[in-house]
Amino acid sequence: MQTSETSEFDLVIAGATVVDGSGRPGFVADVGITKGRIGLVGSLAADAGRERIEAAGRVLAPGFIDVHTHDDRALLTPGAMTPKLSQGVTTVVTGNCGLSLAPGRVRGPIPPPLDLIATPEWLRFPTFADYLQAIDDQGTATNAVCLVGHLSLRANTMDDLQRSATPTECDAMQRLLAGALEAGAFGMSTGTFYPPARHASTDEIVAVGEPLRAFGGIYATHMRNEAEKVIDALDETFEIGRRLGVRVLISHHKLAGVANHGRSIETLKRIAAAMERQPVSIDCYPYNASSTVLRPEFVARASSVLVSWSQTMPQHAGRTLADIAREMGCSDEAAAEKLMPAGAIYFMMDEADVRRILAFPKTMVGSDGMPHDEHPHPRLWGTFPRVLGHYAREEKLFSLETAVHKMSGLTADELGLADRGQVAVGKAADLVLFDPAAVGDRATFAEPRSLSAGVEKVWVNGRLAFADGVVRDEHAGRVLRR
Ligand code: ZN
Ligand code: CU
Repeated sequence: MQTSETSEFDLVIAGATVVDGSGRPGFVADVGITKGRIGLVGSLAADAGRERIEAAGRVLAPGFIDVHTHDDRALLTPGAMTPKLSQGVTTVVTGNCGLSLAPGRVRGPIPPPLDLIATPEWLRFPTFADYLQAIDDQGTATNAVCLVGHLSLRANTMDDLQRSATPTECDAMQRLLAGALEAGAFGMSTGTFYPPARHASTDEIVAVGEPLRAFGGIYATHMRNEAEKVIDALDETFEIGRRLGVRVLISHHKLAGVANHGRSIETLKRIAAAMERQPVSIDCYPYNASSTVLRPEFVARASSVLVSWSQTMPQHAGRTLADIAREMGCSDEAAAEKLMPAGAIYFMMDEADVRRILAFPKTMVGSDGMPHDEHPHPRLWGTFPRVLGHYAREEKLFSLETAVHKMSGLTADELGLADRGQVAVGKAADLVLFDPAAVGDRATFAEPRSLSAGVEKVWVNGRLAFADGVVRDEHAGRVLRR
């Protein structure tokens, strides 16, 4: 009876085009929400639901899952998750590139690039369980899927990071990882691209990662090489996955430097072949510039470098390295030395590679946004609307349904988030309502902190978290434990 339905739903979103995250064509339906879950997708009486939103002409999609973030600290910082909520992101995966805030018993100074997220005062969670508990106690803006960073494990265990770990150190790291997985971590990440983790051998990673096997954890990696030796790096990644018997996730796949432009044809072929043999996942961000710590040896590969923060000379954030070097009367590399510790944006990818990787059927979308940079890469504020507006609607790289799938249903499947990523009965009510004609990114390299267009309402676990340009609820999210 229609009258009994009136009290059945806390909220009805009526008449939107539901793009459900599975990749299938959108369809017009009413969606009823009860106690934070989707109770019905179909047709409802006009008086059904305690609250009703007329949404004809709008798209209702699953809240987006940002599969690659450095939001470890942002989750606990008031206001810091606005970039994500405002894009329709309702779940973030933290702890990427080998970096996590916990465990936080770091011996000695914080090794870069761990300083992208960690400060001494933020290393206040001795164990991973403490960190997850703190998020639950404080409440957080989006749901969180947390990975343990291998560099963080190293920094907790080793006095000297410039070498491979000893068997005793590997055992100690293994115990820390096992404890984290027990507390609910989803897996481990590495960043062997970076100097302090570069010294870790394949055997070290397999030894430390051993607990992933029993827990069914995931192994995510910012690979050792994304340039000349990218094929070797892919093969190492697959080898680690096979030896541990776990899913590997190739983070922010890219080809760096002019000499490697176009090679995504080769790498994607290799990845597709590996997918036939073992579980392999892949993500990327929709931009042709990368962003990480500033290092002199990273400079030459880029056509242009933009400084995103500097501890020694914060006034230079937002300027090009070439400009700063000219003013200082020195080389770009020498200027980089003077600015360090610092962060930078490197223009070094080929747009054709970005498109090919983004359009690859198994590629998920992750922002890799840097929430604490003074002048951040625009991917922090723009990634998800950019895929919908620029790449799907304007460039027609793929359909809207495929775009949504890459940002929700596909990601939930690959991570094993059984009750997220789809608009379907029984799933958690993580939802985004947007205007398909208007949705798009506004954040640019010059003005990176610009709110996207067209994202109208965002619900996290059934609670309205963002509406009409304003954050409404910063505590609707929770830790998702594996
Ligand atoms: Zn990375
Ligand atoms: Cu990253």
